[in-house]
Formats: sequence, C-alpha cells, structure tokens
Amino acid sequence: MGNLSVVGAQWGDEGKGKVVDLLTARADIVVRFAGGSNAGHTLVVDGKRIVVHLLPSGVVHRGKVCVLGDGVVVDPEGLLRELSDLEAIGLRPEPAGLRLSARAHLVLPYHRELDRRREGVSEALGTTQRGIGPAYEDKMARRGLRVCDLRVPERLRARLQAAVEQVNPQLERLGGPRFTVDDLLPPLLDHARQLEPFIEDTGAFLQRALAAGQQVLFEGAQGVLLDIDHGTYPYVTSSTTLAGGAAAGAGVAPRDLGAVVGVAKAYVTRVGKGPFPTELAGEEGARLRQAGAEFGSTTGRPRRCGWLDLPQLRYAARVGGLDWLALTKADVLSGIEQTKVCVAYRWRGKRLDTPPVDAEDLAQVEPVYEPLTAFSGSLREVRDYEALPAGLRELVALIEREVGVRVGLVSLGPQREQTILRHGFQAAP
Ligand code: IMP
Repeated sequence: MGNLSVVGAQWGDEGKGKVVDLLTARADIVVRFAGGSNAGHTLVVDGKRIVVHLLPSGVVHRGKVCVLGDGVVVDPEGLLRELSDLEAIGLRPEPAGLRLSARAHLVLPYHRELDRRREGVSEALGTTQRGIGPAYEDKMARRGLRVCDLRVPERLRARLQAAVEQVNPQLERLGGPRFTVDDLLPPLLDHARQLEPFIEDTGAFLQRALAAGQQVLFEGAQGVLLDIDHGTYPYVTSSTTLAGGAAAGAGVAPRDLGAVVGVAKAYVTRVGKGPFPTELAGEEGARLRQAGAEFGSTTGRPRRCGWLDLPQLRYAARVGGLDWLALTKADVLSGIEQTKVCVAYRWRGKRLDTPPVDAEDLAQVEPVYEPLTAFSGSLREVRDYEALPAGLRELVALIEREVGVRVGLVSLGPQREQTILRHGFQAAP
C-alpha cells in the first residue's frame, strides 16, 4: 500500500488516534502536518489511556520516528509537558525518534491569552482556546516566531519585542494583561534548551527517508469540515486539515502522500459552534453521548451528537480525495433504537446531495433520513465481518453505495484487536 495519509472525514474526534495507531505498524515514520495542541488523540495501549495533543499518536510505538512538520504550530511549553507525561509511562522518545521542524511556528502565551479573551466575547466560535487561531494569524501576517528562532537568543529577543508591541494593544482592548519580553524570554530560553536536540529541517529529513524507501504515515488533525478553506467557515480551525495540505505541511511532494484514509464515526459529533444538520437535541443526543463517551479529550466539553450525515461524508470524500473510509465506533449504535442515517438534504424546495457553501444556508437544510434495522448486544468480540448484525452491514453497504468509497476498516471498540479489516485493507506491512 505504500505511504498513507489519514484524515478526519467529519468535524474531528472521529477516532483517528486508534486508526493511526493500528496503521503505524506498517510505517517507519509518522508525521503531523498541521494544527497544534487543539487536537487530542486518545489512545489505549496495554489498558492504559493516554491523550496526546501535539505529538503524533505514533509516539507510543517504540522504534518509529515521529515528526512535527513545517505546517504545525508548536506550543513549546505544551510539547514539553507531553514529553514529560510520556516519560512517566516510559514512552518518552529519544531525540532521534522525534523531529521538530525548524520552520514550524510557535504558539506563545499571548496567543493563548488572545484566544481566551476573544472567546469571552459574543461572536465566539467555541475554539479550544489553545492559541491556534492567533498563532496562524501571525504566521499568515508574516510576523510569527518560528522554532528556528529559538536557536538564536538575540533574534528571539528582537522578534518577541516586535510581537508584544503588536499584541499588547489588542489585549488591552479585550481587558487582558500586558506581556513584556523580560517575562516571556527566560522561560522560552529554557524551553529552547530542552527542545534543541529535537529541532531539524524535517522536510529534508523526510525527503531523504522517502528516497531510502521508508514508509511514511501522514497523520491529520481535526476533520475535513473544520478545514479553513473547505469546512463550515467561519466555524472552522485555522489550518488545512485535508490530505491535500499534507505535502506542504510536511515539506514533501504530493506524489509521496500515498492513499488517503478518511476516518468517520458511525454517527456524527461536533464540539464548538456551527451548523450541524443531523444534531440530536435532548434525550436522543444525550443517549448517544453517553453510549459513545463523547466528551472532548482536549477541553472536556460534552460533544454535540447526531446521526450519520452522508451529504457531509460525500463532500468530504470528494474534496478530501478519500481512497478508503475507516468507520469507527460502530459498536456505539448497538442498542440505540430507531437509528437513522441522513442520505440527502432538502433545502428551498430542492434535494441536495452535498452541503451548501455557506454555513448559514447549511443551518437551514432539512435532513432526509433513512431508518436502519436496529441491532443490539455487544459487538466487541466480533472479528468476522459476516458475523456482524444485519443492521450494521446495511449501514456499511449504504455508506459504500452513497459515498462511493470502500469501507476498509470497521472499529468496534477502543482496543487494537476490536477491529475488522475488509477489501484487503492492511493494517500491518
Ligand atoms: P481552534 O482550532 O481551537 O481554533 O477551534 C476552532 C474550531 O475547531 C472549534 O469549533 C473547535 O472545537 C474545533 N476543533 C479544533 N480542534 C479540534 C479537534 O481536534 N477535534 C474537534 N474539534 C476541534
């Protein structure tokens, strides 16, 4: 199968962590190419639950090289915290096992403060408040600080000075604190010292590795519908979440990305604000949330829950260039009565197969549902596709027919072995 790119096909939290974890078996290198510590991958390894935010989920595999690519935004303090959490369970990577791009932009304390302050005002988006949006703003405005700046203290001081002059008036308007270089610099120099062994020109590293025939897995964060260009703007994150962005965000050629695996849950969740046509309010939503333990791994927020949305998935498959789908949390639908799947939208007297462009229009569509044959009982021991309940096989067939993408993996629980592979999809080399 060669290299692989794994991306979320919905609004994030699709269970990419488990899928990447399985597929890491067939890779030498795992690369994150966008986003920052707004992500949260929950991994269960040997019965231990681990949440990583910035580090790729491949980090729990010994012997694999993890890369934080050029397109990632790195909070040095948060990264060091994750490394020390891993150290506590004996999984801290050696410098050779973690490569941090010298080109990646930094998320600094004033970015987090700005994100928090802005979220306090009425037009809030429901961000993760990790400073992601403000850091990408600085990057695009060509005034951001990068990992390479950590290596040259006098440059770091000068760039921080320019940054605080720019950010303090904004913070003042929002009732926030003033930042000074004298406060920011000493801890940052300490972080720089600790991170120095990991810093590298990761694009060049990956190009060498690819030329030597190493297998690379590109690990996306968030999901297609949170993409800055193709998501439900403005209720999106500030980076490219599609596999299309992986080449630029990792510094490799598009031809190196390999097949694209989209991860989709058997239902849909969303955190933060924005339109959600199949959202279940009240009792029904609460039941799905409970059954699927749908609480944010980064913020702890209860996730909004709803039925699987095929117009959304069709769109994700097309714009995201999905070659495969991995269907996760299929077991959660077991025991849920009157399960439905949205197959189209009705909007202004028309039937739509994909979402309208504007988020305000998407908020007005009416889902057209098809019922699924209900099923119940634990599926966690099932290892054979044909042994799955008819209702679940019906769902998989419906997805394949309507979306036009093969479902190569069905996940029936958080453990690695609670997985069924189909159509020759390989989790191991
Ligand atoms: P930001 O990325 O923190 O700026 O948040 C922007 C939007 O993306 C908000 O709706 C967040 O809830 C959402 N978001 C960001 N990261 C994730 C994620 O990893 N999973 C789900 N939603 C996310």
